[in-house]
Amino acid sequence: MRVLFTGGSGKAGRHVVPYLVAQGHRVLNFDLVPLGLPGVHDLLGDICDAGQVYSAMRTHAGYDEQEDGAAKLFDAVVHFAAVPRYGMVPDTETYRVNTVGTYNVLEAALKMGVRKVIIASSETTATDPGLRRRITFSYIDARDLGQIVDLCLQKDGLGFQVFNAVNDENAVPQPNSELLARFFPNVPLSRPVAEREGLLSNRKIREVLGFREAHPWQKQVL
Ligand SMILES: NC(=O)c1ccc[n+]([C@@H]2O[C@H](COP(=O)([O-])OP(=O)(O)OC[C@H]3O[C@@H](n4cnc5c(N)ncnc54)[C@H](O)[C@@H]3O)[C@@H](O)[C@H]2O)c1
Repeated sequence: MRVLFTGGSGKAGRHVVPYLVAQGHRVLNFDLVPLGLPGVHDLLGDICDAGQVYSAMRTHAGYDEQEDGAAKLFDAVVHFAAVPRYGMVPDTETYRVNTVGTYNVLEAALKMGVRKVIIASSETTATDPGLRRRITFSYIDARDLGQIVDLCLQKDGLGFQVFNAVNDENAVPQPNSELLARFFPNVPLSRPVAEREGLLSNRKIREVLGFREAHPWQKQVL
């Protein structure tokens, strides 16, 4: 597929973009700063500028595509460009980039007729951001995140779906019996929880998309 990728130069994008290229996708990176990956053209621009976003949505993914004539619409958009954390820039700027920028990407994709948009959100939208346990001990290896984005690209008929993009197990070595007793003593269990199973569940990406974890943290650090 031809994919417009926003924020491909960032911490997550710089791993996901090469993964998508390795799967055979043609990727154009739209970011304030270049990624500098051979085979991936960097289109420098700002998602907060609607005109730039509309223009990027139908453009050549590289100079070689100019040989084919008119610029084409992308098959899909992967939207990772954002201010990912509190405190990096003034709060007003975080709000502007994350709301106006995301709106521009969604509006342009919808009105130009792009059939699929994949957006990176954050686990902090579903948990208490004021607590250290806010990410429910979860993690995602950036290469496995690449697999998840590719599976989203391949799977048709999803409509609007929200997936937890996390690895299979918790990012801490303590068993769930200990974690649950210590951190979530008043949370009722709706089903039995295995000792190592991730408390932020990835069951949906495994069952709906066929995700199979390739990079558990234990392989890297134990
Ligand atoms: N990295 C993580 O652990 C993590 C965890 C949960 C969610 N996420 C989400 O994934 C997404 C990417 O996060 P990241 O860690 O790669 O962030 P990052 O800051 O490393 O990368 C973001 C990229 O977006 C670009 N960008 C910022 N403002 C832009 C603008 N106005 N126009 C164009 N490009 C712009 C930046 O230049 C950067 O390359 C975010 O939505 C973040 O909330 C990341």
